[in-house]
Amino acid sequence: MKKENLLIMDHPLIQHKLSILRDKNTGTKEFKELVDEIATLIAYEATRDLPLVKTTVETPLEVATTKILAGKKLAIVPILRAGLGMVGGMLNLIPAAKIGHIGLYRDHETLEPVEYYCKLPSDIEDRQIFVVDPMLATGGSASAAIGFIKQRGGKNIKLMCILAAENGIDRIQREHPDVQIYCAAVDERLNEHGYICPGLGDAGDRLFGTL
Ligand code: PRP
Ligand code: URA
Repeated sequence: MKKENLLIMDHPLIQHKLSILRDKNTGTKEFKELVDEIATLIAYEATRDLPLVKTTVETPLEVATTKILAGKKLAIVPILRAGLGMVGGMLNLIPAAKIGHIGLYRDHETLEPVEYYCKLPSDIEDRQIFVVDPMLATGGSASAAIGFIKQRGGKNIKLMCILAAENGIDRIQREHPDVQIYCAAVDERLNEHGYICPGLGDAGDRLFGTL
């Protein structure tokens, strides 16, 4: 696991919320709210390099020279299902972003991703793209999703997750060295079923109550 292109968000608020998220006694409603809040906090950092332009505004006292967003087009692309849980939290900060969807599930035997849906904004090549998925385990799903986006012309891609395993980070760094990864924590290992340990369990099931 290299340090380049990897930002582990060690902010106390994120770490606190992540601890509650990991707790097996945290129910679906609170789990959903926490994923939403952590996504907003990660989005704050992931949007740090959005371009600005100078402008002027009249304050009640005088004219101020100030800055506003240059209007770079943005896209949020959740990996279904669990990635959906991060969309609302991101939209809190970047409400004008378009949303693309990529449907993938991990085959439970091979752990390889199987695509079942892909719909992206038609001008994806012009957009700063945030791929979102709470879990980066083997990295198969995120790597495939990023590959599909690139095949359709996407270029500027960041990957935002909540929990990652070193295997997943290694895979993205190897297969997509241009992609910046944001996560809240990196756990030690994957178990024999490809689950991140100690992890937080199955993010999709905990978000949508399908345990
Ligand atoms: C989970 C998770 C990621 C993937 C991570 O999805 O949300 O998409 O596994 O694992 P990987 O890094 O080894 O590919 P899952 O396949 O369980 O589907 P779901 O979101 O529909 O529950
Ligand atoms: N997907 C999950 O939801 N959890 C894991 O730990 C790994 C993959």
